[in-house]
Amino acid sequence: MNAIDLLKADHEKVKAILTQLSESTERGVKKRTELLDKLEMEVSIHTQLEEQILYPAFKAAGGKDEAEMYYEAKEEHRTVDSLVLPDLKATDPTSPEFAGRVKVVKELLEHHIEEEETEMFPKAKKLLGKAELEKLGEQMLAMKSSLKKSYVSQKVAA
Ligand SMILES: [Fe+2]
Ligand SMILES: [Fe+2]
Repeated sequence: MNAIDLLKADHEKVKAILTQLSESTERGVKKRTELLDKLEMEVSIHTQLEEQILYPAFKAAGGKDEAEMYYEAKEEHRTVDSLVLPDLKATDPTSPEFAGRVKVVKELLEHHIEEEETEMFPKAKKLLGKAELEKLGEQMLAMKSSLKKSYVSQKVAA
């Protein structure tokens, strides 16, 4: 599995969840909560795959421009994971604020995904080459399944 293809497939999944979430209403509390849990899990696992596997390889293979891109993307991850998503999780799903916050999360993530797919990933393809991307993709698959397992067991324990 090519690392970039794997990450792009995750992006499609995340975008679909965001669309569903933005179409949900205050009356669909259960649906909202489920979608939010799903979004949090997908984003958290995806971010870890990028930050631990693709991003460091990209930075190491590149120069100054790539380093700048690396730090900007990491900052966007931090904004979503540590600030915006926890905030949304703490918001009452029956409140009018909820939809507004979903909109902001959606915009931030779509912007971030767009930058990765149009700027970072094409550069990573050139810098790393097919064989290396395949190798990184294998590492990602393994990491993904172990993170999913620990996520599920955490859920069961909670
Ligand atoms: Fe990302
Ligand atoms: Fe991504």
